[in-house]
Amino acid sequence: MARRKKIYEGKAKILYEGPEPGTIVQYFKDDATAYNAQKKAVIEGKGVLNNRLSEFFMTGLGQIGVPTHFIRRLNMREQLVRSVEIIPLEVIVRNYAAGTMSQRLGLEEGTQLPRPIVEYCYKDDSLGDPLVTEEHIAAFGWASQQDMDDILSLALRVNDFMSGLLLGVGIRLIDFKIEVGRVFEGDFQRLVIADEISPDSCRLWDIETGAKLDKDVFRRDLGNLADAYTEVATRLGVMPKNATPITKPTLIN
Ligand code: C5P
Repeated sequence: MARRKKIYEGKAKILYEGPEPGTIVQYFKDDATAYNAQKKAVIEGKGVLNNRLSEFFMTGLGQIGVPTHFIRRLNMREQLVRSVEIIPLEVIVRNYAAGTMSQRLGLEEGTQLPRPIVEYCYKDDSLGDPLVTEEHIAAFGWASQQDMDDILSLALRVNDFMSGLLLGVGIRLIDFKIEVGRVFEGDFQRLVIADEISPDSCRLWDIETGAKLDKDVFRRDLGNLADAYTEVATRLGVMPKNATPITKPTLIN
């Protein structure tokens, strides 16, 4: 059997050429990184959890008419997705102040924002994904005005869907990051949600206790990351209780 072709290896995922043209196999690794990969660990089970959670969120989005790159899950760690041209932006939606917004604006973490705020960062690890404005995006041609209108509308729809879904299981969606890609259909291009939607790219707080159920557990050494993600997955009914072996993270650096 021919070895499949690796297209790209990122911090948390590997992309392989898919079985049909226009498809990609997305493999979820157990690697966790934070602070632009200055902090690294292998968290056993994280890849399996993120594969399942991203499948769950993307499938739900598809069901309410929000287009995504997701086609189907292939196995524990892999999913088949559409090949897209990634727009080089990290689109962040915030409902409550936290993380870099709290640092930048001196807002206490957990402060409710007057309305959801959408921010854009230029996707470039060597620059640390700097915050940019729509002026930069237009001037450097990263996305057109039509793209930006579509991205804003997609981001807010994802926010409403995810906020409601998570609220139903006692979790507050503080903020999240999505990536958007272009797919070409004949002469037309369409924007779809790409990459992944998982606790790696969201802030999720328990409504009752405020406990963090997302990658901040790893970033800030607050406990076992796999336990936190398993809690999210079991509350959402994505994983049966006690399905994932819980192991301690192995520090690489
Ligand atoms: O770090 P910051 O507060 O800007 O992050 C906002 C949200 O975007 C968080 O949910 C974080 O997990 C996510 N994010 C991400 N990847 C990045 C930067 C932020 O998933 N490179």
